[in-house]
Amino acid sequence: MHDTDTHKPIASIPLAGVIGWPVAQSRSPALHAHWLRRYGIAGAYVPMAVLSEHLGQVLHALPKAGFVGVNVTIPHKESVLALADVVTDRAALIGAANTLIFRPDGRLHADNTDGYGFMANLRQRAPDWAPEHGPAALIGAGGAARAVVAALLEAQVPEIRIANRTRLRADQLRAEFGARIVVYDWAQAGNMLDGAVTVVNATSMGMVGKPPLRVPLDALSPGALVTDLVYNPLETAFLAEARARGCRTVDGLGMLLHQAAPGFERWFGRRPDVDDDLRRAVLASGP
Ligand code: ATR
Repeated sequence: MHDTDTHKPIASIPLAGVIGWPVAQSRSPALHAHWLRRYGIAGAYVPMAVLSEHLGQVLHALPKAGFVGVNVTIPHKESVLALADVVTDRAALIGAANTLIFRPDGRLHADNTDGYGFMANLRQRAPDWAPEHGPAALIGAGGAARAVVAALLEAQVPEIRIANRTRLRADQLRAEFGARIVVYDWAQAGNMLDGAVTVVNATSMGMVGKPPLRVPLDALSPGALVTDLVYNPLETAFLAEARARGCRTVDGLGMLLHQAAPGFERWFGRRPDVDDDLRRAVLASGP
């Protein structure tokens, strides 16, 4: 039988992309394009601006057009769970997915690689970091913070102190993730840094166009590892101050790069490297 007798596309090129609204700001197309080029893989990765009310229809149609999977970003990361046939434990725990795989059997598989990206970035850039040796202090309790909490708990962090402007969201994390979470009042955020081995900004503060994060860093120990999920600018005022106080700092770009690797591997069949070439390509792609 010839291929034309079946409904399968002939020698189809695997397609992937990112679905969000808006999506123009996403660095993912540049990131995946770099990997596709570097490894000489015939494939494509495209940005797709999709409204919430069309998400189900779009996800249903894409596999029929040769798509092997997609990333999902704001505002679809939570709502996509209800549309998936299989949700990994970590995506369920975090309550959001960022990586979808369209399985050959037609099932939609949803995973969350943000926690993996967070850990892989810190392990790569601070190989001596030992999160299990002491408390972590986390500023923020939104969607990104949830992925960080799940990852730090898995890394055997003994205690995670959380302060968030809206305390209720931090209390919710404690209710869901358990007794290793200790909630601090927003006004006490500076105090929770005392003795912390790991300090994370998981709010959007400090991002271009937003006010800087104003948490007093006097209690910070010079041995702490300080990281920011914000990567534009690459060095936020928060990281600059921590560095000036003698702390090891890691910017947030690496988390974006690493979270993309598992999706690329599943869709295109090759585990990609996260290195300086990739960082340069992604930085050159946007403001
Ligand atoms: P993401 O998925 O990026 O985490 P999010 O769920 O909207 O996005 O969370 C944004 C985080 O930044 C929250 O912790 C938010 O605090 P609230 O829960 O009180 O909203 C925090 N944040 C944003 N703007 C802030 C500001 N001006 N001051 C303090 N915290 C802010």
